[in-house]
Amino acid sequence: MRLLGIETSCDDTAAAVVVDGRSVESNVLASQDEFHRVYGGIVPEIASRKHAETINAVIDLALRQAGRTFVDIDGVAVTCGPGLPGSLVVGVAAAQALALARDLPAFAVNHLHGHLFANYLEDPHDPSKALPAAPFLCLVVSGGHTDLIFVEAPDRHRVIGRTLDDAAGEAYDKVARLLGLGFPGGPAIDRLAQSGDPKAFDFPRGLHRERSFSFSFSGLKTAVRYHLEAHPEDRTARLADIAASFQAAVVDALCDKTLAAAKDLGQTTIALAGGVAANSSLRHELRARASALGIRVLVPPLAYCTDNAAMIAAAAFYRGDVARVKPNELLVDPNFAW
Ligand SMILES: Nc1ncnc2c1ncn2[C@@H]1O[C@H](COP(=O)(O)OP(=O)(O)OP(=O)(O)O)[C@@H](O)[C@H]1O
Ligand SMILES: [Mg+2]
Repeated sequence: MRLLGIETSCDDTAAAVVVDGRSVESNVLASQDEFHRVYGGIVPEIASRKHAETINAVIDLALRQAGRTFVDIDGVAVTCGPGLPGSLVVGVAAAQALALARDLPAFAVNHLHGHLFANYLEDPHDPSKALPAAPFLCLVVSGGHTDLIFVEAPDRHRVIGRTLDDAAGEAYDKVARLLGLGFPGGPAIDRLAQSGDPKAFDFPRGLHRERSFSFSFSGLKTAVRYHLEAHPEDRTARLADIAASFQAAVVDALCDKTLAAAKDLGQTTIALAGGVAANSSLRHELRARASALGIRVLVPPLAYCTDNAAMIAAAAFYRGDVARVKPNELLVDPNFAW
């Protein structure tokens, strides 16, 4: 089954062609970073307008790069939420128009399922990599979410923990702004941290002592702010040390809770998903600490961690009839829950 995936939930306009939820024939993404950078964050109105300007060209390019036309496509999968309403509506309108005009089945996809099912896409660097076999635990860490999901079956997910305040990616972006590193902040902190000392400052690990699988990152962000106010000289002299120490606190908290949940549920496979899963330290630390416990860690290729449309096509394929809707029933749902 060859699906056209469409993703416009936030600030990336994306389309992809994927066969059987696994083999990626094309994965096109038009980033809007340059339009939002000057504001230090995403401006919803600009995001929506840019999606509208770009969506047709992105879909056209995805088909051409796959060497396909609409005749070869068996269905259209689109992100319906969660996300920015003005952004979601552009992708949903495009998918609806295509499905109606071409008489194709439509699939309403939850963006978070997309992140999770990125783990099912073929890894071009490791084509023999096995599919995750449910049950397993998935840590979805992105700009808007930090959710620990128990995947009982591909179509049965249970939230067993989540952040009580900021998402991990949001903390990265806010701290990057405090440090003057620009937007998006995650990749900038990841790079800078590599030349810093992660033990230089002992920033708080939110809810460290609690037995629950909840996360908290707002106290960490505030601790970095107070540190900069008390030691303005560190802003230049020890920027890399602050970045590395902040990152160590995030990674520690994510690894501690995820490994504790895996042990509690008796799970031996953990999958990572979402934009923060691209973080070099998180990938390395979680793998190292899990392997010492006999736990396997699956990580999607970098391009499938941050927002993309291949993951949306994969989610539609694996969700199947659960996601299938009549084209005129495709609706934007900005608060679409797991
Ligand atoms: N290497 C990295 N290290 C840390 N964070 C990163 C890295 N690369 C990207 N990020 C962060 O990932 C986030 C973007 O991820 P993603 O695109 O999945 O989020 P989103 O789609 O905005 O949110 P959601 O998926 O929750 O709706 C941003 O907060 C960004 O800073
Ligand atoms: Mg996302």
